[in-house]
Amino acid sequence: MEIFLDTADISAITRAAAMGLVDGVTTNPSLMAKESGDPKEILARIADVVPGDVSAEVLSTDAAGMVAEGRELAAIAPNIIIKCPLTPDGLRAVRELAEHGIRVNVTLCFSLPQALFAAKAGAYIISPFVGRLDDIALTGMKLVEDIRQVYGNYGFDTKILVASIRNPLHVVEAARLGAHIATMPPKVLDLLIRHPLTDSGLEQFLRDWENARS
Ligand code: G3P
Repeated sequence: MEIFLDTADISAITRAAAMGLVDGVTTNPSLMAKESGDPKEILARIADVVPGDVSAEVLSTDAAGMVAEGRELAAIAPNIIIKCPLTPDGLRAVRELAEHGIRVNVTLCFSLPQALFAAKAGAYIISPFVGRLDDIALTGMKLVEDIRQVYGNYGFDTKILVASIRNPLHVVEAARLGAHIATMPPKVLDLLIRHPLTDSGLEQFLRDWENARS
């Protein structure tokens, strides 16, 4: 499973990328709004730091606007892909951008039929938002499981990117269900790497070594 960071924070991305842990990045308007500077420059820097796909989201809500914006954003770097919302106009834009050879991550997916339509429109990635479904007392991971099954039934090669990840268990479940990508805030990545038994075990090893030599 590919590991993406869900942030536009270049320092956090650079730190995690230096560990060789980050395959790609997802951004959205809320995340971009937290950063200062020119959005296109920020995206260019992110695209330079990570080896894989960097999702840049359109702000337009009409298909023509999304296509125009998508073409501009895709020109920033070869690994920039375009994020379009799962709306009727978004699906039209997906098809048109795909015809221009531009890969689209269809975002804000909350149901199986939405995921099916995105794949039929030619989506490169579908992003089910698991945390936001959990927030309204539904099971986000059940949607991931259903998408996996239905895409398998019909041979769609649209990648499943688990988004709106809030905790390490979401990542574990995404891997168990065979999602292609999990995108997570830097804090969740940290929680996944660290383990209290690793820290206490390491301390003990070093203490034993020092005690034996003193
Ligand atoms: O990738 C989509 C993600 O950023 C949404 O996460 O936590 O705002 O639901 P959240």
